[in-house]
Amino acid sequence: MPQRETWATRVGFILAAIGSAVGLGNLWQFPFKTATNGGAAFVVFYLVAVLLIGFPAMLAEFSLGRRTKRNAVDAFSRMGHRSWRIVGVLAVLTGFWILSYYNVVGGWVMRYILGSATGAYFDDPAAYFGAVSSGPEAVVAQALFLGIVVAIVALGIEDGIERATKVMVPSIVVLMIALAVWVATLPGAAEGYAFFLSPNVDTMIANAGSIIPFAVGQAFFTLSLGMAIMITYSSYVGRDDNLIVDGASVVVTNTIVGVLAGLVVFPILLTIGADVTTDTGGAGALFVATAAGFGSVPFGRLFGIVFFGVVLIAALSSAISLLEVTVSYANDNFDVSRPVLSIGIGIALFLLGVPSAMDTAWLTWFDNFAYQVFLPLSVLLLIVFVGWVVGQEALEELLSGAEGYRTFGTVWLWTIRIVVVIAVLATLALGVNEMFL
Ligand code: PFF
Ligand code: NA
Repeated sequence: MPQRETWATRVGFILAAIGSAVGLGNLWQFPFKTATNGGAAFVVFYLVAVLLIGFPAMLAEFSLGRRTKRNAVDAFSRMGHRSWRIVGVLAVLTGFWILSYYNVVGGWVMRYILGSATGAYFDDPAAYFGAVSSGPEAVVAQALFLGIVVAIVALGIEDGIERATKVMVPSIVVLMIALAVWVATLPGAAEGYAFFLSPNVDTMIANAGSIIPFAVGQAFFTLSLGMAIMITYSSYVGRDDNLIVDGASVVVTNTIVGVLAGLVVFPILLTIGADVTTDTGGAGALFVATAAGFGSVPFGRLFGIVFFGVVLIAALSSAISLLEVTVSYANDNFDVSRPVLSIGIGIALFLLGVPSAMDTAWLTWFDNFAYQVFLPLSVLLLIVFVGWVVGQEALEELLSGAEGYRTFGTVWLWTIRIVVVIAVLATLALGVNEMFL
């Protein structure tokens, strides 16, 4: 077996984890799930889910990954529980499933950068979306996006992922802040902020049953949980890193970028008079609405290029993390070189993504299935393993490098054992109910 790689620096790990977390989940999913699930009411449930369920679950993945220094499947046998490998397999499959349509949306984003530069979507944003979102052109765009991802992963942890995300993550934050400042000057800004930030309590209570599964699913998706990513990334971390602080940095930065996305998107939508609850209803309508916004304001081309450029960088750094999961598993187990593995797995992903690229109805179905079934199921089983099967050993691992955090650690262990398990079970029941019954 070849010598296992590690992160060159601690900050390299944190940035790569942030690079994974910050992605289309923040910039595309979060605004559109907010719009279709009651606006600020959704935001409240989502923030609670991130803090109470997402953060503890992330620490669970971190402790498992660093303890075993293995890919997400072999981690379970390393802990002495071979039969639980199935949970690792489920997590890898969940990631694979999500990445298949993620690449398609990544392809759309590339088309939108081009469309901003040429002004192609300015006259008729809806028609432009129709033309680029599905069909042979979308398949080509998907392949291009995936090609970049494969190339970076083929270069490896230090030269590829670490170097790329070190530049990407700071640029995303700076550019989003710049956009938010510009958007604040638009006439619809106040109305946009109100929709995004002031929750209607009646909506929250009346629709809790349908909002909660999406809010919890969003928390998992946005933090890259349940896809074996954080297990894999933390397997390259040293024993003296403080995983609790690292995890908190990821959660905080990821939340900031999500909030910035809302602060950018909703004022634009309300400035152009879009009915946010319906115009942004579908997976693609957000592209249509934002594009319409860029088409109707001064310097729209420039802002369009910057906005979709940020989205592309964020999407790439996430997709890289997910491909790495599978490549890492294969790299640990077979004597095949990283570049060959990256290309082979890339081709499989491409094929799985073709239905989503040919028809957005498929993409929506893949997406809903991921949110309502795959993600909660994968996180639930992982949490039961770390909390109940491993328990104390996971706690000790979490505290290595975080010696002053014993009380926090104990609270964490009981939170994942009780609160997270119950919350995720409830989410799963609601989600399955919504999807199939
Ligand atoms: N946390 C990522 C996001 O919010 O976009 C989720 C993700 C999806 C990561 C797909 C990686 C990926 F390939
Ligand atoms: Na995210």
